Amino acid sequence: MRLILLGPPGVGKGTQAAAIIEKYSIPHISTGDIFRANIKGKTELGKKVEEYMNKGLLVPDDLVVSIVKDRIVKDDCKDGFLLDGFPRTVAQAEALDEELSKMSLVIDKVINIEAEKDILIERAIGRRICKDCGATYHVKFSPAKQDGICDKCGGELYQRKDDTLDTVEKRIEVYLEQTKPLIDYYAKKGLLLNVDGTKDKKEVFNDIVKALE
Ligand code: AP5
Ligand code: MG
Repeated sequence: MRLILLGPPGVGKGTQAAAIIEKYSIPHISTGDIFRANIKGKTELGKKVEEYMNKGLLVPDDLVVSIVKDRIVKDDCKDGFLLDGFPRTVAQAEALDEELSKMSLVIDKVINIEAEKDILIERAIGRRICKDCGATYHVKFSPAKQDGICDKCGGELYQRKDDTLDTVEKRIEVYLEQTKPLIDYYAKKGLLLNVDGTKDKKEVFNDIVKALE
């Protein structure tokens, strides 16, 4: 199954991705996670993308597209994959279609998760992530048992640099301008599944599974 997770910043794409990849045994490809790993590793790519990310702006299409192209041809993607946070512009979606068509493949479904702005801001600002294993928490909605410490591995929890109020607002603005048009793009192709992201994360997951089946 080849899936795309579409939705605004903080809506719960990463949270749902973790459950989806477990149920369907497909790899999780998050362009945001790939960039953050490169920033952490101080790679050339990391240096190129850091400023865009810290400002809440999109990384240029050519950089993102080449990374995804290289990733989806890997062996573990042969039975499918879940794209999270890609595509984010119509140009990226077209480049993806072109690349898949060369391999005689198509996207099966696009899961579009939505919630209002105040919910997005509260979720993003309260998010905490484990430095070691990447597990995601929320100070109010899914707090760690011990403040600042990961339940799963004991690692230290941190807040993403782009999860400040100003940057989250900027990211939402960028989403509305550049990414929201993809809803129409995929609706026209008959691939769109709309999911209410305001519910509890387990309910959102059940709705996704129902929509896929
Ligand atoms: P990226 O990392 O993709 O960030 P994003 O799209 O802004 O989305 P987030 O990761 O912030 O939110 P999410 O939807 O995954 O929410 P989560 O599940 O964590 O991209 C970051 C940056 O990288 C971009 O700004 C851009 O610069 C660059 N970039 C990446 N891809 C790019 C591309 N294709 N093109 C160009 N640039 C690109 O949940 C958030 C919080 O809410 C968590 O604390 C969670 O516990 C909580 N939560 C989740 N679900 C629920 C629920 N149902 N109820 C209550 N709380 C919930
Ligand atoms: Mg995410």
